[in-house]
Parts: sequence; C-alpha cells; structure tokens
Amino acid sequence: MDVFRIEGPVRLAGSVNVKGSKNASLPIMACTILACGESSLGAVPNLSDISVFGQLLQNLGCHVKRNAQGQVCINSTVIDNPIGEYEIVRQMRASICILGPLLARCGRAKVSMPGGCAIGDRPVDLHLRGLQELGAKIHLENGYIVAEAPHGLIGKDIFMGGPFGSTVLGTANVMMAATLAKGRTIIESAACEPEIADLANCLNKMGAKIRGIGSPRLVIEGVSQLQPIQYEVIPDRIEAGTFMVAAAISSGELHLKNCRIEDIMAVVDKLRRIGVTVESKGEGCIVARTGTIKPADITTQPYPGFPTDLQAQFMALLSLAQGNSVIVEKVFPDRFMHVAELNRMAANLRKEGPAVIVAGVKKLIAAQVMASDLRASAALVLAGLAAEGTTTVNRVYHIDRGYERIEERLNPLGAKIRRESV
Ligand code: EPZ
Repeated sequence: MDVFRIEGPVRLAGSVNVKGSKNASLPIMACTILACGESSLGAVPNLSDISVFGQLLQNLGCHVKRNAQGQVCINSTVIDNPIGEYEIVRQMRASICILGPLLARCGRAKVSMPGGCAIGDRPVDLHLRGLQELGAKIHLENGYIVAEAPHGLIGKDIFMGGPFGSTVLGTANVMMAATLAKGRTIIESAACEPEIADLANCLNKMGAKIRGIGSPRLVIEGVSQLQPIQYEVIPDRIEAGTFMVAAAISSGELHLKNCRIEDIMAVVDKLRRIGVTVESKGEGCIVARTGTIKPADITTQPYPGFPTDLQAQFMALLSLAQGNSVIVEKVFPDRFMHVAELNRMAANLRKEGPAVIVAGVKKLIAAQVMASDLRASAALVLAGLAAEGTTTVNRVYHIDRGYERIEERLNPLGAKIRRESV
C-alpha cells in the first residue's frame, strides 16, 4: 500500500493542466452501451476508477482499450452478459449507472446493489423509482437489483427529487434509459451538474433528443436507436477546485489551464470572499493569495451551489482562517471523516450534527493521517502542503481514484511529496 510523505510548509507557483472530469467520464462510458459499435472518448483521465469501470464494461461483453492518443475506445457491439458483478460494484458505486443503459439496450439487467461507503448510506431508491416509472419491473435477488423491460421502456413524466435534492447518477441512469424509451419522458428536479449536461450533450451527438440540458427539467423524446460517438469530456471542476485550494493554502499563485470557471462559480465566489484572487485567463484562470484567509460560512448543495466534493478541501483551507467558519453539509450529512484527521494536524474543528465549526488556527502541524475517501484524502494532502513538518498520508489509493498522479503534478510547482510503498 502506498503512502505520501509531504514536507511542509511550501509555496506553490506555476502552471498546471486540469485533466478531464472523472465524474463526467464514468456515465459517458456507460452511455456507449446504448449504441452498437465503437465509440472513442477523449480527455478521459487515467485513474483507477476509470480502469475499474472499463473492467465492468468488459465483463458485459464490450471491448475497452486506451489507444496511443490516450482516447478510451469502447466497442459495444456485443453485450451478452448484462450483469454488474458485486466484486466490481463494491469497489466503485458509480457502477450503478450501467443499470439504465443496460435495461434500455438489452431489456434486462442485473446489477449488484451498492452498499454504503465512507461518505454515508447512499441509497439508490430514486434510480429504481425512476426506472420503474418508465415501466421496468424491478426486484432484489441475493443482493442484486434485477430489472426487466422485455417489451421496452415507455416515456413518462417523472419527479426525481429526494430528501437531499436531486440525484446526479440517478438522473444519468433515467435519462440514458429514456433516450430509447417509446415516447416522451420529462424528468423534473433533474440534477443540473455540468457532468449531467456533458452526458446529455454526448447522448444528443449519438442521436438522442434531449432538451432543457443544464436545467432541472429535462425533456427526452425517445428514439429507436443511437449511434456510436467520438466525444471529448469536460475538464474536471473538482480537480480544478482542489488546485485552487492548493494555491490558496500555500500562499501561492497557480495558473490553471483547461479550467471552466463558469462550472465552479460558487467556489470562485467563496475564494474571492476569503481573500483569494481568481482571474480568468484564456481557457483557464490564475489563482493567488497574498494576505490572510478570512473565515466563511459554507453550505454544500446540489449544483449550482457549493459542491460537496470540495467541502473537505475547504475545511483544510478555512482551518487557517483568521476567525471562525461554519461548514454545513446538505448533500451527504455524514461526510466528515476528515474532521478527526485534520484535528490530528492541529486544526480546531468541532462537529455539530451535519455541520462543522472551524475555529481558525495559526498553523497546522504535520502528523500521520488516514485517508478515508477520495476528497477527504485530497484535503489531507492540501493540509500537508501548509503544515510544519512531514505529514504522512496513509491509504493513498483513495486519492489515486480521482486525481491522476497528483504528486507528479504538484511537485514541479514546489510541493515536496514522496510516494512510498509500505
Ligand atoms: C455523484 O454521486 C458523484 N459521483 C459524487 O462524487 C458526488 O459527491 C455526488 O454526485 C454529489 O454531487 C459520481 O458522479 C461518480 P447523488 P451520486 O445521487 O450520484 C441522496 C466523488 O468524490 N440519494 O447526487 O451517487 C444521496 O444519499 C464522488 O467524486 C437518495 O436519497 O450522488 C445524497 O444525499 C463521491 N436516493 C443525495 O441524494 C437515491 O436514489 C445526492 O446524491 C440517490 C441519492
């Protein structure tokens, strides 16, 4: 198992290229199931989650490879085993987004029911309800979701809001299934995340008829078939936000290339309010901090609100603010595994239900810490950049799920991160 040894404090400066979006790539890889033939996807990041998803598609019967130009080519001509095995789903919950496209393409699908994970229970009831509304018969069998629609799916008006707002992958699943349903589907309270808009744009290029892209009301006219596609996924807004915090926490200045700041305006606004400058430059932006960090109150929300996937990273940053901040988690109310770890680094954080009170401290101090999930581990790396001494982050495989060789990209900017196998 790899660990990171991070020497701090450092100041980061220079340019960094933001990779393609993991969370756009995964459903877009799934949507190739809907067409027969070979699709090729550009800007798909080289991450362990992407490899696992490729394996999932291969098990269905697809051929998946990364070509010399770095594109992920998926040949979905044959799908003869519409089953998402437990062994893969337990590694990555996003596997659930093969359910909708498999059902639409094959008329049946069997996908392991995802369990909970470090960030909460994460039910999939809204995915299942949406597919049932389209006419699927669904039951549970030995831990597997078995879905059947032998005579095809039928368009319907569906409300997809849940207790915590819209659902990203639930919207992806139902939208993908609805592209091949008979008639019109309207999804109300659809997720508006840029990754869902990217998926919808990709589906339209494949021949789907989706309107209202980027809004909470998606109108989908079913078509009889879709074509394979060549498509380039959008830049990763969460990776961009993480690099922005890296610049801020290290009192540095970074030029982020390939970054759409319009996709993270809630984050940019927060940074500006706490004393970090963010200025557009070409296809990216410059992020810099010279003065102190001001405290801020943050509430995570579905897009366009502040993303839950940047909550942990901002907690690390606000730990060093001059004053008290409050962070409220409204998407995954239990997503606070990083709190105890940041406190080991001399942060002053107090959890109160779905909120954390962050009392700013003058400095963070290096410690041994444990990564618990992808974004929590990113927060620990960021804290390690600012902390005095050598921080050891254990279970680095979590960060490798979502950030491509992060140490090789931060070290040229001034970070001192060593990967060691222990
Ligand atoms: C996606 O997960 C992302 N994953 C997550 O990123 C991200 O944190 C999340 O959206 C929210 O933005 C991928 O895109 C692969 P949800 P998803 O369904 O779709 C509740 C990362 O670090 N809910 O939008 O699974 C749910 O419990 C990951 O990259 C139901 O109640 O999240 C939560 O409270 C982690 N019933 C809320 O909705 C359901 O059927 C939002 O979850 C589905 C969800």
